[in-house]
Amino acid sequence: MKKRPFIIDCDTGTDDAIAIVAALGCEEMEIVGITSVNGNVPESYTSRNNLNLIEYLGYHIPVCHGAILPLLGSKATEASTAIHGKTGLGSTELPEAEHSDFDPRIAAQFIYEEAVKRNGELELLVTGPITNIAVCLCEHPDLPNYIRHLYFMGGSTVGGNVNTTAEFNIWVDPEALHVVLQSGIPMTMVGLNVSNQTEMRPSEETLLRSFGTRETNLVAELLVYMMNRSVGASKVFRANMHDPLALAAAVFPECMKYEEYFGDTECAGTYTRGHTAIDVFRRSGKEPNVRVAVEVDVDLFREWLCDRIRISGENGEAVRK
Ligand code: BDR
Ligand code: CA
Repeated sequence: MKKRPFIIDCDTGTDDAIAIVAALGCEEMEIVGITSVNGNVPESYTSRNNLNLIEYLGYHIPVCHGAILPLLGSKATEASTAIHGKTGLGSTELPEAEHSDFDPRIAAQFIYEEAVKRNGELELLVTGPITNIAVCLCEHPDLPNYIRHLYFMGGSTVGGNVNTTAEFNIWVDPEALHVVLQSGIPMTMVGLNVSNQTEMRPSEETLLRSFGTRETNLVAELLVYMMNRSVGASKVFRANMHDPLALAAAVFPECMKYEEYFGDTECAGTYTRGHTAIDVFRRSGKEPNVRVAVEVDVDLFREWLCDRIRISGENGEAVRK
């Protein structure tokens, strides 16, 4: 099978880590590199989590530093530490990477160079604020010529998890999504309207633990943290698989339904900064610029995800031999 080259751009993060583990179980993907961004926790943590995770799982995949601030921001976000824990990985402490170091290139440079090298074949999976892609577009306006598709977790068609209408990733850096949505890159948005339905349950945790690999145990541990965290009574902070669902859009698209819409982000607003204005009733008269996931078959997705994590465990055991 010809593998599809991907860069995963992420703010790891509990569910970002689960998405990376699952991606390592997707035989249709070649993970070209992992780029880090400020988001769930500051970039100093998200990049370290990526480096530690990749070494812990035994892989030699380039890991890059990335944006430490949103496009117009002067302050790194700390908003989500209550949700992902101080370091981003809940109560999980990965061993510090000893044998690997960061790729010398910063995210935007890495993305552009790897995209040009692959002549239009590279795909992007973004599971955090979309700052690195916006920076790359500002520096290299020809980037769209080299990207086959961009899948991102972010936004919502129904309501937010930070304010009335904004989803966290977009709320952190609305200007960045504004830039990306205008770029002409073919893209798919996986927002809260579908990802809030993907809660993992104790039965999935038990199943994963029964496989007994490093990968399945790690995901089980992350799930326990996520299932037990309490941020008010809100269901949006349970063990929802926001980021793994964006991975599914890329390699298991049949678990969702999609519509093509025009969309933009609200960059001002008393209640709505970071809101993704998706023109679901087609009132804007503007051409669609984003494919939006509108329905998910949750059982099918959960089954697929557990299977990818199981295979990731088998792959990992072989890699570490
Ligand atoms: C998104 O925000 C983060 O908390 C998660 O990692 C996910 O990418 C969900 O709103
Ligand atoms: Ca994330």
